[in-house]
Amino acid sequence: MKKALITGVNGFVGRYLGLALKKRGITVYGTSRLKRWEKTEQLNFVDEIIISSFSDKEDIKRVINQVEPDVIFHLAAQSNVRQSWSSPSETILANTMITLLLFESVKEISKSIRIVTIGSSEEYGHWDGIKFPIVEDEYLNPKNPYAISKMNVSLFAKEFSSVFGLDIVHLRPFNHIGPGQGAGFVVPDFAQQIVEIERKNKKPEIIVGNLSAKRDFTDVRDIVEAYVLAAEQGITGQIYNICSGESVEISHVLKSLISMSSENIVVNIDESKFRPNDIPDYYGSNSKFKALTFWKPQFTLQQTLNDVLNDMRSKRTDGK
Ligand code: GDD
Repeated sequence: MKKALITGVNGFVGRYLGLALKKRGITVYGTSRLKRWEKTEQLNFVDEIIISSFSDKEDIKRVINQVEPDVIFHLAAQSNVRQSWSSPSETILANTMITLLLFESVKEISKSIRIVTIGSSEEYGHWDGIKFPIVEDEYLNPKNPYAISKMNVSLFAKEFSSVFGLDIVHLRPFNHIGPGQGAGFVVPDFAQQIVEIERKNKKPEIIVGNLSAKRDFTDVRDIVEAYVLAAEQGITGQIYNICSGESVEISHVLKSLISMSSENIVVNIDESKFRPNDIPDYYGSNSKFKALTFWKPQFTLQQTLNDVLNDMRSKRTDGK
């Protein structure tokens, strides 16, 4: 791989992925909808930003023809589960429809371009007979619009690979966290409040949602290493879980973060933050991916939580 295109490069994961690729000497192009990148500062995670909404075929083809990438990492998405309930149709449009347009475009331009699609553990959803750790051929029973949008991507990825010979590898990352993740996800939501309390901008009370859910967390820096390995070694048409292999209760994440602060913090559960249909527990098997690539997460949960909190502390109140 000499040239990579990352859609949504200026998102949380895109920046880390760009860095990981550049570290290997790969030229990185990234799409962004934001015009402000046109003029701006030197960005260390990308060689060139291409302004594109990446939402219609003409534009997608324009970008691909301009870059002529060896690999496309399709990261651009509506990735917030809670938000997907407020706008199911927009979620399907952003996640499923645009990915399909990308497949159609690549099919028309060159089937030698490898596409790495980013799905989610949410595709597995939940059912009484689900087996843990979840393996890639587990029955899919998605439980929210986001999960459905990503499940559809995985189905199309498989079919476009086998029917049209497209070189697609589909990944199912479980929860990923790290410095720079935006509000709306559990770790930044908790960390942000702790930092506001430390700054005396907020009374020492943290408002939280469902603490009994369990999730399989991996540091974003480990996740992007897996994405690069998947692009290099993944087998066409295959699906791989990217996860740590164990789940922790959200209450444990909260306790750990609070213990990293010297403030005396009271926890207040707000039921309005609960989801209509929250999955109680998730942990995946990473055996298939490990057997192929020897990937192994390097960051412990404690290390990541500590880095997130310190990163938040180093930013101004407005998040800059
Ligand atoms: N966001 C948030 N904020 N979640 C909370 C809070 C809170 O204040 N309190 C408790 N939770 C619980 C949620 O109800 C959920 O059970 C869990 O914490 C994790 O929530 P999120 O961080 O929002 O992640 P997610 O599991 O819904 O989805 C994430 O992981 C998927 C992979 O499994 C997202 O990153 C998805 O894009 C990703 O595909």
